[in-house]
Amino acid sequence: MTGDRIVVLTGAGISAESGLGTFRDENGLWARHRIEDVATPEGFARDPALVHDFYNARRAQAAKAQANAAHHALARLQRDWRGEVLIVTQNVDGLHEQAGATALHMHGALSGALCHACGHRWPAPAQMHPDAPCPACARPATRPDVVWFGEIPYFMDQIADALQACTHFAAIGTSGQVYPAAGFVAEAAACGAETWEINLAPSDVAGLFDHHIDGPASQSVPRWVTRLLAGSRR
Ligand code: OAD
Repeated sequence: MTGDRIVVLTGAGISAESGLGTFRDENGLWARHRIEDVATPEGFARDPALVHDFYNARRAQAAKAQANAAHHALARLQRDWRGEVLIVTQNVDGLHEQAGATALHMHGALSGALCHACGHRWPAPAQMHPDAPCPACARPATRPDVVWFGEIPYFMDQIADALQACTHFAAIGTSGQVYPAAGFVAEAAACGAETWEINLAPSDVAGLFDHHIDGPASQSVPRWVTRLLAGSRR
């Protein structure tokens, strides 16, 4: 077991019980905002103020949120598991870190700002504005350091290496509708990993998993972690 390596992919569902809305559930963010307006480079070019308003509101909401039992359980897994545990999150909140875990933010983070003119990165202020100058090049070209549709997610090489080497893969609270993340289960399974889907309801790629655990993440993830740490896989 010492060589066992776990990759955990998380999505909006793990933060739902912390009060952060998901994207595609009833009354989710994409029922109230158009993706092409607020989550594409073209939308940002058309109306940067609208896009900053959207992420400023999400940053303010995320700043008030508390990590829940699922985030804490994954931190415990990362701390206590005999092998490696890589958490890859599609979430832009900081709740894995608040719980004491480290995570690769493949879709970026609300806590980051990026200059799209020179590529400089710095901690995002609470409120970002389209006319704020980049601290490095002084051009008014600042954007949230989040990945939009049509852009390449971060850390893809590192994630691909981890998926090829992992023995266990779990996807938690993600609808399986957005690639490349939705394809991770197939990559891990092709390399021999045992796979779990932990979700309120089966995702679009549910058929690719070995095991399914239904229910709210705050209850199902701690139970799954406890079983794994006890040496049981089911
Ligand atoms: P979605 O909103 O697409 O899916 C959320 C998933 O979480 C659904 O499958 C729900 O059933 C599940 N869920 C909701 N509440 C839950 C709970 N309490 N416990 C467990 N599961 C729960 O969110 P993501 O799959 O994360 O990308 O979305 C993926 C990407 O699409 C996001 O990163 C974002 C979005 O557009 C970009 O903005 C680039």
